Amino acid sequence: MILDAALNPAEIARLSSADLTETTCVVFDVLRATSSMITALAHGAEAIHPVCTIEEAFLAKERLPEAVLGGERHGDPIAGFDVGNSPFEYRAFPGRTIVSTTTNGTIALRACDGAREVLVGAILNLQAVAERIRASAPSRVLLVCAGTFDSFALEDAWAAGRLVDLLGGGEGTDAARAALAVSRLYPDPLEALRAARNGRALAAKGREAEVAWCARESVFDIYGVMKEGVIRARAGLSARENPANLPFHAG
Ligand code: MLT
Repeated sequence: MILDAALNPAEIARLSSADLTETTCVVFDVLRATSSMITALAHGAEAIHPVCTIEEAFLAKERLPEAVLGGERHGDPIAGFDVGNSPFEYRAFPGRTIVSTTTNGTIALRACDGAREVLVGAILNLQAVAERIRASAPSRVLLVCAGTFDSFALEDAWAAGRLVDLLGGGEGTDAARAALAVSRLYPDPLEALRAARNGRALAAKGREAEVAWCARESVFDIYGVMKEGVIRARAGLSARENPANLPFHAG
């Protein structure tokens, strides 16, 4: 298994011309898109439709009138949407479909559309993602670090590197090794998120509690799988063994 990483938005923009048919992509946007998505799925959301633009979100809403519109631009809620991108907002939608657009996270997800499998990763569900990768044994894993605006995001590389550590083997590219080094530089994920540009920006807006929420490692034993542009929950190993822990709709 080859472990690789796309560490910034410029690399992600080139994925549309890459052959990902044998690759499992794990998309990280820890502050906050994929953390909010995993939180929503862990609280029973039925499905999440990540789209790249605000216009696409409103068009999706026309097709899915019951859907919740969520997302952000520059970290703030979008006019006319139901919620922003705080993970705390996404505990309230059991059984609902969510349409989401964010600055980097949803773009990174859709850039992986042609992949063998696309998993939604966060610090919140690292063990469940690692178990899925071990069980599915793809020949190549690409850790897609969504970044912030046009830049590398420390928090996404931390999560990717921690996943490299959890996977424990495989042939790591230089980018995967760099992500691993970042994760080992900060043994405490909250320390990494507090050091990150996005973490500092959120704290400056009084959103430190969201940063702390996103830093909790493997608290949700689920992962999200995106198929044809729609993300749905799958239960992790221990959740399957203890159905009482299952979120709604996780198959
Ligand atoms: C992103 O997509 O860049 C992040 O989700 C931004 C945010 O949530 O503030």
